[in-house]
Amino acid sequence: RPLVSPIPPLPALHVSFGLSIFAFVGTLYLVPALGPTFVKANLKGRDLLKTYSTPIPESLGLVCASVYILLLIIFIPFAFSSITLSDAYTVHEGIVIKEFPHYQLSVYLSSILSLLIATMLGLLDDIFDIRWRHKVPIPIIASIPLLMVYYAERGNTHIVVPIPLRPLLGTLLNLGPLYYLYMSLLSTFATNSINILAGINGAEASQAVIIALSVIANDLLYLPWPAYFHIPLHLLGGQADLEVGGVWRAGMAYGSTQLVERHLFSLYFMLPLVGVCAGFLYHNWYPARAFPGDTLCYVTGMAFAVVGIQAHFSKTLLLFFLPQIFNFVLSCPQLFGLVPCPRHRVPRFDADTNLLHPSKALFLRPPSRLATFVLRVLAALGLTELTIHPQSGMILEATNLTILNFLLLRLGPMAEKRLVQTLIATQVTGSVVAFAVRYGLANLVYDG
Ligand code: UD1
Ligand code: MG
Repeated sequence: RPLVSPIPPLPALHVSFGLSIFAFVGTLYLVPALGPTFVKANLKGRDLLKTYSTPIPESLGLVCASVYILLLIIFIPFAFSSITLSDAYTVHEGIVIKEFPHYQLSVYLSSILSLLIATMLGLLDDIFDIRWRHKVPIPIIASIPLLMVYYAERGNTHIVVPIPLRPLLGTLLNLGPLYYLYMSLLSTFATNSINILAGINGAEASQAVIIALSVIANDLLYLPWPAYFHIPLHLLGGQADLEVGGVWRAGMAYGSTQLVERHLFSLYFMLPLVGVCAGFLYHNWYPARAFPGDTLCYVTGMAFAVVGIQAHFSKTLLLFFLPQIFNFVLSCPQLFGLVPCPRHRVPRFDADTNLLHPSKALFLRPPSRLATFVLRVLAALGLTELTIHPQSGMILEATNLTILNFLLLRLGPMAEKRLVQTLIATQVTGSVVAFAVRYGLANLVYDG
């Protein structure tokens, strides 16, 4: 019995693009419409960096997540309507039968499952303020379906060793189970790292939009474009040229259908994400009329982990997280209890000047010797500023260890809107660096 698609074979990418516009318009409309309902359900917060204390509806990321996941589900039949999806045929009594690509379907379903768990975790965190030690392992468990699908496809667990280390380690190094550990940690990193780079209007949603657009730009490089798109990469300092659609020459299978399918999958998940986040950002932009809550941070983070793992570009994905990695590493002394961590580490608001200043963590007890050492090193690097007791030399205060406070420390006090614009500029610069490293520098340490 030949397989007949229930719907005509539409170009799935066009459908995905259409649904993303719908996602944008839907979120744009639904966020203000549902705001009062969220306030009534006690999902509201005070804007910490304003003079007024009107309750702002919080956790509107739930609206984004719902629109996003529902559209992804509606999209599933379209993803499988195209006849080019699978090249697996069986011949039965002389008739060629096209096999349904079950593997692709499991990729979709496991991805949606992980997104649903992230939504649930985010909403529970918004309602109950879950403790750190409880919320960190949950995304790790949520990533098991993704890893299982990766395993089922005999996903790669090798890494290519950079040329200088090859005499020691050989050309290819099989990380085996460690590679799975790395991928599950990626999911918990992606979900939490956006959440801790937050607290000023527009921060969370703009990070998500820029990372998603960077992933989309990277995916577009792998689509089968006509041959006249040709980027002379040697002009940018790389050794190989980049043929858009022909795929980066160094080492990759030229235009392999599998590679194209994986990046199409990534596009199907990223386009509507840009839609919902951009629609939400309109209402979250300074002065915010809606807050994302942890729900938005977890769902967007999980969406990135999903495409990074399922489309096999987790290392490139991590390059798009440079500001988040910086913020996370800088935060570690506070996250792991070496330095006191107040409930909110957002910058301090000066109502008279309307400017933000770096906020400070106060030592109630004298800091340990290790904490003193770490803080002095960070201060020497210009990453924090310490208040020191003039006589005893003891540290009394340190500015909170976040990228936002760091930016204020280095660039001076600024208004909230300026700070979020600076953050956006940092994120965009990070992505430009990421592309340069991925397609330029990589040629210096890896051969083709
Ligand atoms: C994380 C940060 C915390 C930061 C908070 C701000 C860590 C370990 N935790 O905590 O330091 O203060 O995010 O989101 O780094 N808010 C604003 N303006 C905004 C967005 C949020 O004032 O633009 C305030 C509102 O009062 C809102 C609250 O932040 O109700 C939300 O905080 P929540 O997401 O619950 O904090 P965490 O994610 O736990
Ligand atoms: Mg949060």
